[in-house]
Parts: sequence; C-alpha cells; structure tokens
Amino acid sequence: MDKIIIIDFGSQYTMLIARRVRECSVYCEIVPCDRVPALDGAVKGVILSGSPSSVNDPDAPAADLEGIRGRLPLLGICYGAQRMVRDSGGVVAPEDMREYGRATIKILDAGDPLFEGVRSGSTVWMSHGDTMVSLPEGFRVTASSDDIPNIAYKVDGEPTWGLQFHPEVHHSEDGAKLISNFVTGICGCSADWTPENFITDAVRVIREKVGSDKVILGLSGGVDSSVAALLLQKAIGKQLHCIFVNSGLLRKGEYESVLRSFEGMGLNIKGVDATEMFLGDLQGVTDPEQKRKIIGRDYIEAFNRAAAEIGEARWLAQGTIYPDVIESAAGKGPSRTIKSHHNVGGLPKDLKFKIVEPLRLLFKDEVRRVGKAIGLDPAILGRHPFPGPGLAIRVLGEVTPEKLRILRDADDIFITLLRERGLYDKVWQAGAVLLPVRSVGVMGDDRTYENCVALRAVSSVDGMTADWVRLPYDFLAEVSSEIIGRVRGVNRVVFDISSKPPATIEWE
Ligand code: XMP
Repeated sequence: MDKIIIIDFGSQYTMLIARRVRECSVYCEIVPCDRVPALDGAVKGVILSGSPSSVNDPDAPAADLEGIRGRLPLLGICYGAQRMVRDSGGVVAPEDMREYGRATIKILDAGDPLFEGVRSGSTVWMSHGDTMVSLPEGFRVTASSDDIPNIAYKVDGEPTWGLQFHPEVHHSEDGAKLISNFVTGICGCSADWTPENFITDAVRVIREKVGSDKVILGLSGGVDSSVAALLLQKAIGKQLHCIFVNSGLLRKGEYESVLRSFEGMGLNIKGVDATEMFLGDLQGVTDPEQKRKIIGRDYIEAFNRAAAEIGEARWLAQGTIYPDVIESAAGKGPSRTIKSHHNVGGLPKDLKFKIVEPLRLLFKDEVRRVGKAIGLDPAILGRHPFPGPGLAIRVLGEVTPEKLRILRDADDIFITLLRERGLYDKVWQAGAVLLPVRSVGVMGDDRTYENCVALRAVSSVDGMTADWVRLPYDFLAEVSSEIIGRVRGVNRVVFDISSKPPATIEWE
C-alpha cells in the first residue's frame, strides 16, 4: 500500500494532517522528527508538520532530510516550511504584522499543481509568530497574503513545497483540496486505504502472528474493543476468548445487553460478575483518584481470574488506537496534554502475554468505519464514550449501592429520552451525575430533603475540548419531570452549562 510519512515537529495539528491524508483514502504514518526511519519503497511522499517552537530557538527541533529532499515529494507546513527555509540559508523572523488566525491567500502561480482547484482569495489559517522574511536561492514564492509576501513556495528543480499556513485545519477553506492535490496528485498515491482493504490485511496479519494460539481480549462494551474483537473473530474464530467484567458500575441493564449482543454475534464471551469485589473495595472511599486506582486494580484481578479459567493463552488483544500509539511514542507535541488517568481500566505492561493490537493504526472515525464494514451492532457502534471507572466517578463522593441505584435510574431516563427524541446522535457524550448535596423540596403537603442530579451533555471531537450542548428547553423539562417523578430520592435536577476547558467533562 502506498503511504505518506508525516514528520512530527510537535504541532498540535499533526494528527489533523494525518486525518486529512487518510480522508483521501491514503495511508500515512506519523514519525517523531528525531527518529525518522529509513523509508521503504511504499513511501510516496513526506509532509513536515508545524511546531510550537521557533526555528530560531537554540533547541529548535530538526529532522534529517538526507535521502528525502529532492528525491521524494516533500511538503513543509508552517514550521516545516520555515525549517527548510532556514536550513537552506533563508531568513525566518518574528514579524511586526503578525498574522494569527484567518488570512486570505493570493495565489501567484496558479499553474502550481499544489494549488489546483484552490481559490485565490479563499481563507487560510495562520498560527505562528514567525514568517519567512527572505527565501533562499531557488525557493520561488507562489502565494502571499495581505500582510505577508511569502506564504507559500516551490523549490525550483525539486519536488519540494512549503506553506506558511495550515491546510489541515478546518478554517483553511480549500485546505483539504490542497492536501489531496499533494498526496494523490503530486505523490500519485492510490486511494486504497479503505475499511475493506484494512480488514483483509488485518485478518491476514493476525493469522500470521498468532497462528493456532489462544487469544484473550477484555471487552468494555465500547467501540474500540468491540471492533477489535470482531476483527480477531474473523481472523481466528473460536481461538478468541473475550472477557467482559461487570464492575457493578455500568449503566442500567448494560451488562446484560452487551453480553447478549456479543453472544448474538457469535463471539466466544465470558461474563464475570465482580460487583461485590468492586463495591466492597470502594466502600468509604471518596477521593476520585483513589477510586480510579481501586477500580483499575480490581479490574486486573477480575480479568486475571477469568483468564486463568480460560486456560493457557499466549496472547492478549487490546483495542489500542492510533492516538494512543502516538501518545506513547512522541516526546513532544499534542500528546503531552492528554490526561494520564484515562488509562485506568488498561492492563499493566508486565502481564505474561504477547500483545496483539489490530487497531493500532486507526483513528477513532476509522475504527467506526471498520466496525460498520465488519457488521458491528449499530447500537454499539454509535455509542457515546463511557469512562473506564464507570458510574463510580459520576457518584460524587462515596459510592454506595443505593446511590448507584438512583444514578442508574436517572441516567437511564436521560439517555432513553435522548434516543427517543432523536437527540442521542447529536451529542458526543451524555450522562447524569449524582451530586453530594441534598436540598429542600415539597411534595404534596410534605417537605422533602433529597438528592440532586446534574445532567451533562457535551459536543466534542476527541474529548480534549468540549462544549455543552444547547438541548431544547422542552426536552430538558421533560427529562427533569420524568426523573423527579419516577426516581425515588431525587427532588431536583440541574443542567451543567460549563465548557471544557476550564471545566472537564466528568465531575470527578
Ligand atoms: P474529562 O473529564 O477529563 O474527560 O474531560 C474526557 C473524556 O475522558 C473520559 N474519562 C475517562 N475515561 N478512564 C477512562 O477510561 C477515566 O478515568 C476517565 N476519566 C474521564 C470522559 O468520560 C470523557 O469522555
């Protein structure tokens, strides 16, 4: 399969470049700038990412482009473009007329294949304090903006281009076209990165890798582990053994429905009810991180016990996806901001298994497409993300069976109504939170002193940032009166209108 290599200088947008390339059905990989591997014949072109650094910083990141520049099509974006300018003797400097955000491109060389179908006058997105003040010899300016003379260049006599702006960012109106011009036009990559090709290839690789060994996989009921399970099942059938742990912290009816749905798909699945252990160990614990630690530990315990019953297995399968892989590989860059506590529910590295991770090259949206192509139940495919520690971090303070009952019932009403009113798919993640406060109410002639439930519904792309969804007032009114009327122990419902940042999606 043809591929593009993206050399990462640490920009927050590097993953977006990869996504845009893959949207052209072209496979690509991100590599850290200080560890560029030898390129094989499948590599048809290279993109240099942006960076939070300035090329003039003493420890500015650099990459060894020996063997790349002049031989393969090369596109520098922002810092990547400036890096080549500076390395070839040009001048990059902070500008007085800094252009941040939106700018307008004036294309000077309309015949440049990079600009085919890109409109002069369209918006491009700038995000760097430095500009390319003077270009080295042989670097020909191909576009400018109102304030900056050099926002794009082509190097004469070699297939090298540079862009001051970020075509990968949504605000660059014709950016996707520009990236497609580079990867499919200039690099000539064939558009063969499709879910079907991925599945065929993954099945072959899994078979070669595990042979006739047994493989164990921990299902969470989420999209990633489910798609991983179906891929493995397609490859090795009953050699795959799935374990699904009931922590007692799942949503109402979820344990049963997930088990049923996977059994229906013919998966070899073992349900383990460890509710007692989890709730017992959580007794009296109020600190959120402590809760996460206990849950992580208990999960491993329950998983190991179930695995021992399955018998000799050499392989552990995991639903690791590409952003997790980049996170653990990159020294610099966007990954630094990802919370470490989100790994709860994962298994420790020192287990005596070899690891198979069939999704490690996929982005989340690609996982969904593969899931669809492989026939995953649409109800699981479209499911909102749900945190590994489950409802334990949505019962604020100590977790008790009674509080879980209240939260489960309230959450179920909220989620069911979201589905019934056609709002579920418009929300990225939703759920109810049981607050550790009681408030006064009145029911009939009696005063009540009962619990308060908060509703949370957010829009997001990847959970890193989020905004609260403007759910219709009438809908909120319906949810509120259903919860208060039907869930014993609740007399007040509030709606969380905080964005992330500065708030987070979960309350704990
Ligand atoms: P926050 O609350 O950090 O959440 O804005 C961002 C996303 O991560 C989920 N989340 C977790 N997932 N283990 C997980 O597997 C955790 O400990 C955890 N904490 C938060 C959260 O539901 C949201 O999707």
